[in-house]
Amino acid sequence: MKAPITVSVTGAAGNIGYALLFRIASGDCFGKDQPVRLRLLEITPAMGALEGVVMELNDAAFPLLHSIDISDDAGVAFSGANQVFLVGSKPRGPGMLRSDLVRTNGPIFTGQGRAINDNAADDVRAVVVGNPCNTNAYIAMKSAPDVPAERFTAMTRLDQNRAISQLAGKLGKTAGSIGKMGIWGNHGPSMFADYFHAECDGTPVTELIGADWLKDTFLSTVSKRGKAIINARGKSSAASAASAAIDHMATWYHGTAAGEWTSMAIPSKGWYGVPEGLIFSFPVTVTDGQYSVVEGIEHSDFARAKIQATIDELAGEREAVQDLLS
Ligand code: NAD
Ligand code: LMR
Repeated sequence: MKAPITVSVTGAAGNIGYALLFRIASGDCFGKDQPVRLRLLEITPAMGALEGVVMELNDAAFPLLHSIDISDDAGVAFSGANQVFLVGSKPRGPGMLRSDLVRTNGPIFTGQGRAINDNAADDVRAVVVGNPCNTNAYIAMKSAPDVPAERFTAMTRLDQNRAISQLAGKLGKTAGSIGKMGIWGNHGPSMFADYFHAECDGTPVTELIGADWLKDTFLSTVSKRGKAIINARGKSSAASAASAAIDHMATWYHGTAAGEWTSMAIPSKGWYGVPEGLIFSFPVTVTDGQYSVVEGIEHSDFARAKIQATIDELAGEREAVQDLLS
């Protein structure tokens, strides 16, 4: 049996936390041979609810679950953390944009970035789920100057999964038939689900599905899916978000299969004209825990305009949080 790794999860008593923790503990994320130590963070008023979640985790008797520690102190919760899920933050309600949350949620990520900087393990890797996740990841990254910037990522895997599901449904296939479905930019209304390079069992989907459906129905359904779920459920997506967070960290940990792409929002190094430092979703491959942006993708004028729009949206969000960065 391997030595346990330490996995920290914030917002652990929330909706996503409830769906996420049991899958981490069961080995769905880091492997069926990888024991985990859970370190869970909540705000003080939610510690009682978190104790209930811990009882349930214990009652599931997961063989890989080495230990569980809970705290309302970020320094304690990130102590020795190898893998971090930053979920804890307010979700939007009906009629709100994700970017409306930036002034409420942004400050959470200055403190948690510092706490990761000061307490996490040297190999720490973090995914931000709490919205607006790209800009919150930017805040956390800037607040953790001793941690290599590329260790901070944000989650666009849910958008990728939604896009795959829409294409598979349209083609009467299952999700496993769809490949190379890259998401570019922000987990926000401007995201670009690049169907031009997506494939179904190796055939470009543009050869199988009409251009109008892809350009209009597909793009709009994927980018507005979060809002559609809030309108239907009265609460934002939780189980699918937790599943996507598992997918994101599992792929970062285990790697992509040959020929496979995934989407991760990562600090840009200027790839494809995206300004350096923006936490921007690109198609990537992953080997030995290191991601690499897929090179040489050609964009039509339409795709280029979409990418510029999402650059502009993210640059605006970054501008709006400059005062939070010291
Ligand atoms: P929730 O309200 O059910 O749970 C959030 C939890 O975070 C609560 O238990 C709350 O007490 C806790 N929390 C708040 N501030 C905290 C802090 N400073 N430290 C630690 N914990 C804190 O919300 P949820 O449905 O679990 O959603 C959480 C976040 O994830 C929201 O911002 C939501 O918009 C976002 N989200 C992102 C995606 C994505 O694709 N990136 C998808 C779904 C939801
Ligand atoms: C989602 O895409 O489901 C989440 O970001 C929640 C939201 O506010 O849309």
